[in-house]
Amino acid sequence: MSANFPRPVPEAIVHSQQFLQYITDSLHNKKELSFEDWMDTVLYSPGWGYYTGGLAKLSGTNTPTEKLIGDFTTAPELSHWYGRTLAKQVEQVLAASDSQCILEFGAGSGKLAFDMLETLNNSTINYFILELSADLKQRQQQTLAKFSNQVKWLDQLPPSFSGCIIANEVMDAMPVKLLEWNAQGDLQEVFISLDDVSNIHYVLHPASNELQQLFSQRMPTLSGYRTEINLRAESWIKELGRCLNKGGILLIDYGFPRQEYYHPQRHQGTLMCHLQHHAHSNPLIYPGLQDITAHIDFTAMADAALEGNLEVLGYTSQARFLMNCGILQQLSQLNPDDVHHYAKEIGPVQKLLSEAEMGELFKVMLLGKQLDIDPIGFSYADRRYTL
Ligand SMILES: C[S@@+](CC[C@H](N)C(=O)[O-])C[C@H]1O[C@@H](n2cnc3c(N)ncnc32)[C@H](O)[C@@H]1O
Repeated sequence: MSANFPRPVPEAIVHSQQFLQYITDSLHNKKELSFEDWMDTVLYSPGWGYYTGGLAKLSGTNTPTEKLIGDFTTAPELSHWYGRTLAKQVEQVLAASDSQCILEFGAGSGKLAFDMLETLNNSTINYFILELSADLKQRQQQTLAKFSNQVKWLDQLPPSFSGCIIANEVMDAMPVKLLEWNAQGDLQEVFISLDDVSNIHYVLHPASNELQQLFSQRMPTLSGYRTEINLRAESWIKELGRCLNKGGILLIDYGFPRQEYYHPQRHQGTLMCHLQHHAHSNPLIYPGLQDITAHIDFTAMADAALEGNLEVLGYTSQARFLMNCGILQQLSQLNPDDVHHYAKEIGPVQKLLSEAEMGELFKVMLLGKQLDIDPIGFSYADRRYTL
């Protein structure tokens, strides 16, 4: 590890070492975990996982003390103009679905919910949150105290729902299968096992026939190519399709259409880890302390939506979506003569829009059922043809 690689605080290291011991003990009995199960374990094991173990994750710019904690910064944390602008699309979806219900998955600090509820300024809106992390739920309750009579937390997906579902950077946190084509052109699945001295390491096994068949429809054989497939996100979208009666699903995440995702040059895949704002590629270190993510194959999500009886109503870059929803017009309310305030508001928005930052890598997809609208967020430069 390089000298500038972050070193977690001693209590966190103890937590991670105890967690690793627990995983190692269970591997002695079970022998192996698929990479997908490893990712599930280290992110979501109750009391231990990155999202479920009670350690700080998100950093925002809203308070000076929050700046220094956490591992990554998401768009809602970066600027309130993000939630305020997204609210325009949500408002249109709600009107067309004859519902005042919003359901947000994995709501982080609650910042997006707060900014949208403030902008929508409508006390008849019911805002539901489905959150896996107990400590984030607590944080959301604090952030959303002002809207306590409008916000409810759910433990599971309701049997049916009408309105607008939102998932901002949720799919990238779902466990993926790790796959590799070997020199003979056979597809291998990556597992985690213990070596002779009980250290965890990767082992490869031939992928199941079902996985081989599915995956070979998605990319050509390329020896040595390692990548991921997010079957859990696909199942989740199909489940949302069964649950949604009438309304829309807004998915915002980083990723590409399939051709770009499985591009020959992307031979190491898209797996990425975040530890105290340091991005790196080793998902086997510091279990429970670092986030592990993979980019989204949006073609796969669109296919899953169709299988789930949903329509794909729009797909574009985050920058284009925000501009279509009028972010620039909203910003024109700011007074440029108030230089300090203006710079403070505009700087983070530039990050949201810049092609070199979040504007192009992040995409927005709208899925819908029984929704008769021309969605404003996709009115210009809809890229569904690329999927
Ligand atoms: C990177 S964080 C994003 C948080 C927040 N949406 C934001 O943008 O700041 C990912 C979140 O997705 C949540 N998540 C992942 N899978 C989920 C699922 N199946 N249901 C609900 N939340 C999920 C995680 O618990 C975590 O809170």
